[in-house]
Amino acid sequence: MTKEKTIDFGFEDVPVSEKAAKVRGVFDSVASKYDLMNDAMSMGVHRVWKDMAMAKINPQPGEIIVDVAGGTGDLTRKFIARAEQVRVRRGGKPARGFVTDINAEMLLAGIDPKKDGAMDMTRVCGDAQTLPFPDNFADVVTISFGIRNVTDRDMALRDMRRVLKPGGRFYCLEFSTPPTEWLRKFYDAYSFNVIPKMGGVLTGDSESYQYLVESIRKFPKQQEFAGMLRNAGFKRVNYEDYTGGVCALHWGYKIGAA
Ligand SMILES: C[S@@+](CC[C@H](N)C(=O)[O-])C[C@H]1O[C@@H](n2cnc3c(N)ncnc32)[C@H](O)[C@@H]1O
Repeated sequence: MTKEKTIDFGFEDVPVSEKAAKVRGVFDSVASKYDLMNDAMSMGVHRVWKDMAMAKINPQPGEIIVDVAGGTGDLTRKFIARAEQVRVRRGGKPARGFVTDINAEMLLAGIDPKKDGAMDMTRVCGDAQTLPFPDNFADVVTISFGIRNVTDRDMALRDMRRVLKPGGRFYCLEFSTPPTEWLRKFYDAYSFNVIPKMGGVLTGDSESYQYLVESIRKFPKQQEFAGMLRNAGFKRVNYEDYTGGVCALHWGYKIGAA
């Protein structure tokens, strides 16, 4: 009998077929406290990173965004709100947002009539590897702090490109590796010593946060991940580091319809 291939789940190796269920377990467990914990863990900096990403994405009226592994939907709200600021000056249609996530608990935890307001925002359960959208559908596809949880990242990158219209833009925000040694060491010490304990106190689940920090360490470095975007067919691929490389925004374009 041939042994099933394994894949990283944090620092653990698990059979490929088991990773998705394990990841689902993590996010089921943290869903209701996810936003609170995100703020606590990053000391609010994840909001700044998302604002910096939005400045780069430059949302426009009438555009459609698909935010993959979108969790509670904050990036989609930022996108629609920014497009609206442009629309009140220049006119056009409101932007539309689709938040898609494999985990219904995360989507449900994000529903907030006050924050959602009159935004044209749809939540759809779906896997990043086989997205529930037609070809050439979106002007912008984003994935923020999601790709490292996906079992087959190459497959997900290809499918996110498929969903983009020709000329559409793709952005991936993800924890990364600071190139400076002292910052890397400081960040490692903070991640491994503080985050799981903080997760334990705030959510009662330190194990899920242990997985999150381990999964960050296993994720490819900036250059390698840029290569994965190119292999998936994206053009004009580039990235910028945020906070010395603790986080990085990668982007690429879909040139041509196929
Ligand atoms: C760390 S959260 C990020 C949420 C949100 N994008 C943000 O920036 O705060 C990771 C999300 O990825 C989702 N996820 C994990 N694997 C996925 C997959 N294969 N397809 C779609 N979503 C997935 C999880 O359910 C979770 O909501």
